[in-house]
Amino acid sequence: MQSLHFSCKKYSCRLPVPVLAVALLLLVSLATTASSCTEQEKASLLQFLAGLSQDSGLAKSWHEDGDCCEWEGVTCNRNKTVIEVSLPSRGLEGRITPSLGNLAGLEHLNLSYDSLSDGLPLELLSSSSIVALDVSFNQLSGDLHELPSSTHSQSLQVLNISSNLFMGQFSSTTWKGMQNLIALNASNNSFTGQIPSHFCNISPSHTVLELSYNELSGSIPPGLGNCSMLRVLKADHNNLSGTLPNELFNITSLECLSFSSNGLQGMLDGNHIVKLSNLVILDLGENNFTGKIPDSIGQLRRLQEIHLDHNSMSGELPSTLSNCTDLIMINLRINTFTGELAKVLNGSKDLTTLLIGVNFMNEAIPYDDSIDGFENLKVLDIGECQLSGTIPVWISRLVNLEVLALNGNRLSGPIPTWINTLNYLFLLDISNNSLTGEIPKELMNMPMLISEKTAAHLGPRIFDLPVYDGPTRKYRVPISFPSALQLGNNKFTGVIPPEIGQLKALLSLGVISNNLTGPIPPSICNLTNLLVLDLSNNNLTGKIPAALENLHFLSAFNVSNNNLEGPIPTGGQFNTFLNSSFDGNPKLCGPMINRNCSSGEAGPVSIVYKKSCGGKVIFALAIVVFFGVGVLYDQMVLSRCFG
Ligand SMILES: *[C@@H]1O[C@H](CO)[C@@H](O)[C@H](O)[C@H]1NC(C)=O
Ligand SMILES: *[C@@H]1O[C@H](CO)[C@@H](O)[C@H](O)[C@H]1NC(C)=O
Ligand SMILES: *[C@@H]1O[C@H](CO)[C@@H](O)[C@H](O)[C@H]1NC(C)=O
Ligand SMILES: *[C@@H]1O[C@H](CO)[C@@H](O)[C@H](O)[C@H]1NC(C)=O
Ligand SMILES: *[C@@H]1O[C@H](CO)[C@@H](O)[C@H](O)[C@H]1NC(C)=O
Ligand SMILES: *[C@@H]1O[C@H](CO)[C@@H](O)[C@H](O)[C@H]1NC(C)=O
Ligand SMILES: *[C@@H]1O[C@H](CO)[C@@H](O)[C@H](O)[C@H]1NC(C)=O
Ligand SMILES: *[C@@H]1O[C@H](CO)[C@@H](O)[C@H](O)[C@H]1NC(C)=O
Repeated sequence: MQSLHFSCKKYSCRLPVPVLAVALLLLVSLATTASSCTEQEKASLLQFLAGLSQDSGLAKSWHEDGDCCEWEGVTCNRNKTVIEVSLPSRGLEGRITPSLGNLAGLEHLNLSYDSLSDGLPLELLSSSSIVALDVSFNQLSGDLHELPSSTHSQSLQVLNISSNLFMGQFSSTTWKGMQNLIALNASNNSFTGQIPSHFCNISPSHTVLELSYNELSGSIPPGLGNCSMLRVLKADHNNLSGTLPNELFNITSLECLSFSSNGLQGMLDGNHIVKLSNLVILDLGENNFTGKIPDSIGQLRRLQEIHLDHNSMSGELPSTLSNCTDLIMINLRINTFTGELAKVLNGSKDLTTLLIGVNFMNEAIPYDDSIDGFENLKVLDIGECQLSGTIPVWISRLVNLEVLALNGNRLSGPIPTWINTLNYLFLLDISNNSLTGEIPKELMNMPMLISEKTAAHLGPRIFDLPVYDGPTRKYRVPISFPSALQLGNNKFTGVIPPEIGQLKALLSLGVISNNLTGPIPPSICNLTNLLVLDLSNNNLTGKIPAALENLHFLSAFNVSNNNLEGPIPTGGQFNTFLNSSFDGNPKLCGPMINRNCSSGEAGPVSIVYKKSCGGKVIFALAIVVFFGVGVLYDQMVLSRCFG
């Protein structure tokens, strides 16, 4: 009625008669509808409020003598019936009361991203009105109640209970009442038992079934083949075993099939996989699959991502893969593939990420000049393959390359001088090879590493890729890649070029175990963003530049096993380094290593913040940078299965 009052006031009494008549009619018709939510609805909502131990100010809005349709997070229809309660990310704590189940018109209930605990009331699951129930990202716990066989929840279509603390058997009895379920997201809980085999006999219109990050075991039930409308099927990170049942390939509607990190085995059958012609994402990484990638994979024309990493697959990569022209990401790391790499790589114009490291053992790196067509490739990993040869020139044609990992091979020869034509390269890992020659001046000119602009935007810019979180590899989360030059474990000779000081965007520099000579160039103190500096196991001479203590972010420093001499600087970050960082330099001295300097070599005691070295605090980086690059994108996998 409020709006009617308002319009009456506004137009006062000067309205012409016909308009007045219309208004009167309107008034009559409106008089038959409610003027506010019912007392019963209000009571139900207030009960919910009372169940909260922390309402984050909600009580101010949810005022007892107001119309509950006006309350924050509450939406009513024209009849003043509450149809939606939406309070995500409201900081709510406490429990969800069953009273919400009394809201007879409630269709959408969204309490995601709160801190609600205790169980999920049965009354909500068996409500005859709720269409979408989202309680994801809370601390709800307990077994999901089995719905009494009398209740048939005809309405529930979307149920998101992901990222809670639910546990217990994930049995079909829980779901048997939910005949109209379209999307179920139960990921990231502690459900046990088997995947119910008759899911889609109960709710045939299932399109999203997401069960990742639970403790489900047993084999994948063939009955899932009845889910003829399923688009997303995910059960990553469970304990599933056995093979992919043939019936699974009857689900021709599938766009995302993802069973990574389980104990699945068997071979991919070409006659079966080809039936999934709508597949966009195939993720079977971290299982025990064997055999070849079938040639028929090339017929999956919509394929954008293929993850078969960490399996025991073998044979040559099918050249038909180049027919999948929509491919964006290929992750085949850590298998035993063999054969000519060059055969596949061509013509994938959209490919941004190619991870094929730890395969092709002891082969020669492809040197085929015809390798072409990867114009969008940003990440290339062919690390730890023991490949022989030199750094091939076709890499120079990957003009959009940002990350290049050739570490752990047997590559010889020099760093090619075209390296600085890769305008976007910010992470180069060629460590652990047999590369020779001097560190070329061109490397001191890498556009992404010298750019002040890059340096200024370093923090947020650092390449985000979804990878596992830490050594436990539990969660796929975006982790930043720092800009880095990893040149360690090679046979480089000569000096560290003084031009190194130009690489202002560099975060990590490693030249460990080479044959570098000469001094540590003082210009290194210009690298004010540096987090890691490892110059150990070389033949460096001279003093440690005192100004290095001005590298405020330097958290790992190692110059052990060189021929450095004189006092170890004492200020700034130097107070935090382990004394082992200086081992194997008999002529170094200072309190840190308990070796007195002769009076002539008394080091600079006070900290001199030279202007040129005092870095602005541009960002604070909360990442551990001491990693092998391989470990990081080892696990690079999508988190992008859409719902
Ligand atoms: C619930 O709210 C969150 C946050 O706004 C949103 O991302 C999510 O899609 C909503 N859930 C449903 C089922 O609409
Ligand atoms: C919960 O899952 C549903 C169905 O997949 C989805 O629509 C909704 O956005 C999800 N909620 C959040 C917070 O991601
Ligand atoms: C799993 O749930 C926890 C707790 O809600 C959350 O912190 C974490 O980010 C979730 N993990 C994933 C992969 O969604
Ligand atoms: C489903 O797959 C099985 C095994 O591959 C097959 O025998 C059956 O005919 C298929 N059913 C339908 C409806 O396609
Ligand atoms: C060098 O590569 C070999 C073979 O890939 C590997 O076994 C070794 O651990 C690597 N060494 C270092 C220092 O990374
Ligand atoms: C290195 O540091 C450790 C612990 O701080 C100390 O016990 C040890 O004596 C030091 N070594 C030398 C050579 O100074
Ligand atoms: C270092 O010098 C101090 C003071 O001159 C002396 O007491 C100490 O014994 C010396 N230490 C060594 C290891 O020479
Ligand atoms: C399921 O929920 C998780 C959060 O717990 C979310 O990351 C994921 O995208 C959702 N999956 C689908 C298919 O909606």
